[in-house]
Order: sequence, then structure tokens, then C-alpha cells
Amino acid sequence: MSNAFLTPDQVGTESFFRLAIGFCTACTMVQQLEEVPRGKMFHTDYPYRSSGSALMRKHFEQAALHLLETELTGNDAFAVEIGSNDGVMLKTVKEAGVRHLGVDPSGGAADVATRKGIRVRVDFFEESSARLIRETDGPADVIYSANTISHIAYIDSILRGVEVLLAPNGVFVFEDRYLGDIIEHTYFDQIYDEHFYLFAVQSVQALAARFGFELVDVERLAVHGGAVRYTLARAGARTPRSSVREMLARERALGLADPATYAGFANNIAKIRADLVSLLRSLHETGHRVVGYGATSKSATVTNYCGIGPELVAFVCDSTPEKQGRLTPGSNIPVWSPAAFSNPYPDFALLFAWNHADEIMAKERRFRAGGGRWILYVPDVHIV
Ligand code: SAH
Ligand code: TMP
Repeated sequence: MSNAFLTPDQVGTESFFRLAIGFCTACTMVQQLEEVPRGKMFHTDYPYRSSGSALMRKHFEQAALHLLETELTGNDAFAVEIGSNDGVMLKTVKEAGVRHLGVDPSGGAADVATRKGIRVRVDFFEESSARLIRETDGPADVIYSANTISHIAYIDSILRGVEVLLAPNGVFVFEDRYLGDIIEHTYFDQIYDEHFYLFAVQSVQALAARFGFELVDVERLAVHGGAVRYTLARAGARTPRSSVREMLARERALGLADPATYAGFANNIAKIRADLVSLLRSLHETGHRVVGYGATSKSATVTNYCGIGPELVAFVCDSTPEKQGRLTPGSNIPVWSPAAFSNPYPDFALLFAWNHADEIMAKERRFRAGGGRWILYVPDVHIV
């Protein structure tokens, strides 16, 4: 599992599952074929912390300010966030003095948010918890979520929960990595256990309709290699914007409903694996030192699918204290703090956190200035 960073004494005790995706020819939903039990992924020790990236802090501040200006304008407005993690988004809502509640089962991340003065319920959002929130807090004007709805296999219960909790003219706004970008740029490492669904406008529209909602707006976002922010309202409550129609047309042109598109995607992925493994092997054979940068969830797919272990990538640096001193899941590569990167610099760095390339390359500019080179593997294997 992509966030199951292990301590050295846990080697050999890991759980594995089959990572494979399927495609629904009726509604074009792309999803995992096997489900990892939610309690194995999201618990007190879940290590991911959203606030580790300056880019994402800024992104979520802007998302919150936008909701405050457009939707949370009433006297006693109420915002709920599903998957609030360390409070990166709700911080701004709280500072505006607006009533809010974060819902997140990962207790360690939730504690960080609570210490910032954010109200959090340590729980899984689903129909039953939504009912309890509705009873104690009343209807929500906004239910917001980022990079979380796609993580939830029991999505029917989420939509029923939103139905229970949302005010009559409220909006359910969520953003997630976008299937169109994943296919177009072969971002195959976006496929990992937590990303149960890979959403597109077409599949989200069909999903919304099944639960009495309507997709009324979509917005492209540049974060995480390409995401979409979907706005759902109760059917008939709001007039859909032209963005929905435009994106649907674009998806038809991209062939997202065509099985042949997925066969091409699989070929592109296999080529990346062959190229990356051959590059790393030849660097190893010629005595070059290679380390990884960013012990991302995505990197678990890359290392496990390509069979990359500590012999090819000596260690991975990552700024998240909860990951440091541990080993990457499945591939068992040690994770060290970024301080280890320059001590001494390697010859090559495999950038697993390619979605933070600008931030990381700026921070580590002395590496390149000293002759070091970055290896990227999407949309194809290349060195910069
Ligand atoms: N919104 C943040 C965090 C994304 S990580 C961001 O975009 O950076 C996904 C988060 O969803 C984790 O913190 C996880 O604990 C949480 N999560 C998983 N299932 C959930 C559920 N059913 N209800 C609420 N949160 C959930
Ligand atoms: P993400 O791709 O899921 O956002 O994860 C990014 C990972 O990269 C996370 O574990 C933190 C790490 N990281 C660094 O080590 N240094 C950095 O400068 C940034 C932005 C992220």
C-alpha cells in the first residue's frame, strides 16, 4: 500500500494487493478492481501531510477564499470538508470566522488541524456520519473535498451522505486528479491503492445523476499534474455552466469512452518501465550514484511495477518527518530527510515528486549547478 512506510523491523510483514484498473463501458468510470480495506490505509499513523508543499498551501488558501466570497456569504454559513487532513484548507475558513467542520479518519493529521484551532471530527465521512453531523450542526452550505472522493470505494454512501447534509441550494465541490491528463501524459503513477477512482467529467456527471445531483460546473486545475474541480448541486437548483459541455466535448475528442484509448495507455506505460529500468541499470553498471526525491504515494507504483529497489536507487529524500527513517512500501528503499541529499550530492536524482518539480528544483538548484541531473519518467523517460 502506497503510504505504508515501514520500520526496518517490519520488513517481510507487508500486505500486498493486486493493482489493476478497469473501465466501465456504460458510464466511462475508471476504477480499481481490488479494494484495500479503508482502515488499512487511513488511520492514526497515516503519514501524508498536505501542508508540506508551499504550492498546495497557496492553492487551498485560494480555494477557501473563493468559497468564502461566493458561497459562504450568509450569516451563519456552514462549511464541511471531507478529508481535511492537517487543516490546509479549513485554516482560511476558520480565520474568516466561518462555522466549519473537517471530517478525517487519520487521527495524526487531524491532531495537527485541531492544534491550529480547526474543528475536526475524526471519522470516515459516509451516510451514517453525515446524518449525525446534520443532527448536531444543521445543513451545510458547502461540502468541499480535495483528493479524497476518488479515494473512497463506497462512493454511493458518500453521495447519500451529501444528500442528507447539503442545504437545498448548497454545493458539493470536490477536486481530484483528472483521467484526461493521466491518459494524455501517461501519468501511470497516479494509479495506486488510494486512488480508487480516476474521475472524468463524463463519469462524474453520470455518478451525480444517480443520486439526484447535477454537475453544474467544472474547472481545470494545474496541481498534481492536472486535476478538475467539480461542482454538484441538487438537480434543477442551478443552471449548469458552459464549462461542463465544453469539457464533455473535449473528452469525446480524447477518446475517453473508447477502450482502444486504454490499450494505447497500457503500451505507453510498458515503454516507460522498459526505458526507466534500462537507464537505471546502465547508470548502476557505470558506477553512478542515483537517489530518489519525494517518497510520494505515486512512487510506490513506480518502484513496485518496475522492480526498483535500493540497489538501483540508494535512498529517497522526503521532507515529511513521518516518512523519514522508514522504508518505502514494497520496494524497501530507505527514506531520509532532504539534508541527506547534499551529503554528498548524487550524480542523478530520480524525481518521484514531479508534480512539485518547480518547488524542488528551485530549492535544490545547487545540485544541478554542481553537475547533478534530474531523471523524470513522465510523460517519458528523460534527463534534465
Ligand atoms: N484534502 C487533502 C488531503 C488529501 S489525502 C489534500 O488534498 O491534500 C486524503 C485524505 O482523505 C486523508 O487525510 C484521509 O485520511 C482522508 N479520508 C479517507 N477516507 C475518508 C472518508 N471516508 N472521509 C473523510 N476523509 C477521508
Ligand atoms: P504528493 O505528490 O502526494 O503531494 O507528495 C509529495 C511528497 O514530496 C511528500 O511526501 C513531500 C515531498 N516533498 C519534499 O520532500 N520536498 C518538497 O519540497 C516538496 C514540495 C515535497
